[in-house]
Amino acid sequence: MKRIGIMTTGGDCSGLNTVIHRIVRGAMLRGWAVYGILDGTDGLCANPPHVIKFDADTLPIENARLSGSFLHNGHARVLNFETAAAQGKIQEFNKRLYDGLKSLNLDALILVGGNGSLSLAWANRATYRDLQLICIPKTIDMDMPMTDRTIGFDTAVQQLTSFCDQLMLTARSHHRWFVVQSMGRDCGQLALNAGVAIGASAILIPEIKFNTDSLVEHIKKSSADYGIIIVSEGISLRGHSGRPADMISRKLTAAGIVNRTAFPEHTQRAGDTTAADRILATRLADCALHAIENGETYVMTSLTDNECKTVALSDFVAAGETVRDPKIPDLMTSNAYVSPDDPLLDVAHDMGIYIGEQK
Ligand code: F6P
Repeated sequence: MKRIGIMTTGGDCSGLNTVIHRIVRGAMLRGWAVYGILDGTDGLCANPPHVIKFDADTLPIENARLSGSFLHNGHARVLNFETAAAQGKIQEFNKRLYDGLKSLNLDALILVGGNGSLSLAWANRATYRDLQLICIPKTIDMDMPMTDRTIGFDTAVQQLTSFCDQLMLTARSHHRWFVVQSMGRDCGQLALNAGVAIGASAILIPEIKFNTDSLVEHIKKSSADYGIIIVSEGISLRGHSGRPADMISRKLTAAGIVNRTAFPEHTQRAGDTTAADRILATRLADCALHAIENGETYVMTSLTDNECKTVALSDFVAAGETVRDPKIPDLMTSNAYVSPDDPLLDVAHDMGIYIGEQK
């Protein structure tokens, strides 16, 4: 009988409980024992590690659609990787992680994480040498290379879309514009997808240069006197500091365009998991369980051209654009961005949405 562990790390998103539920269900059908690690690597570093053993009732099916992680994603008040890196205690952290894993005597560990967590796992891969390490990609930012989709993205797009749908009604009543700031870090996928979904007037993302004079002209020329401008949190404007939505709002106000700002913030990580995210979570859980059966290790499950398969963690790390992680000193993470030939950019442009100076 195999003993497997599951942990969720990094920022939460909707879909984590579905993937946990499906892993537990698939593992139990195989007669395996499943341990949930609480608080991600922080829980593994505790002595003894913070774990629960799953049975059929631990995570009931009706809770599998809820956002957040039943296992939590980390704990701010313990020695975690960020604090360890800042205090020069990486070696101690890795030793505690290794000892925690050893004490659990697992055959395999399924790590559900974003590009920070996966890049970190690869950088410290020796810690996982005594078991099979299988990773599952999740993030609302959709900034992970080597997979067409990440768990949580579809629900985040839906959440942001619903938020904007509500604002559109009050915008129309008052003949004014809303500047909505989306999450996404340095990646514009969330803003771009929700912006197309709502028929935004403009979408500003970090990957594409924009010009505020062109934006103002575009809004003034618009046949409507209300609408929504989505700005991704990663954009910047020379000479301006503070929140990107505020700086765009100030420019519009200076040009006589009546507007308000709105910040959906962490509601983008919440919300009942969409069917698409639940299906993705189920497929990636199934792929991870097969990878364990096949004896694979240091792999990530991926959805590519609608096919689920595993890719080497080393290829994942090498595939992205490597950037310094702002939250974790000394760690280079593997990021993906909106590509200049993303077909959605052309669609947005064709539909009269200002998306910057792309053409
Ligand atoms: O990476 C997910 C994400 O939600 C980003 O979109 C956002 O910038 C960040 O995490 C917010 O992090 P925190 O919850 O620590 O404020």
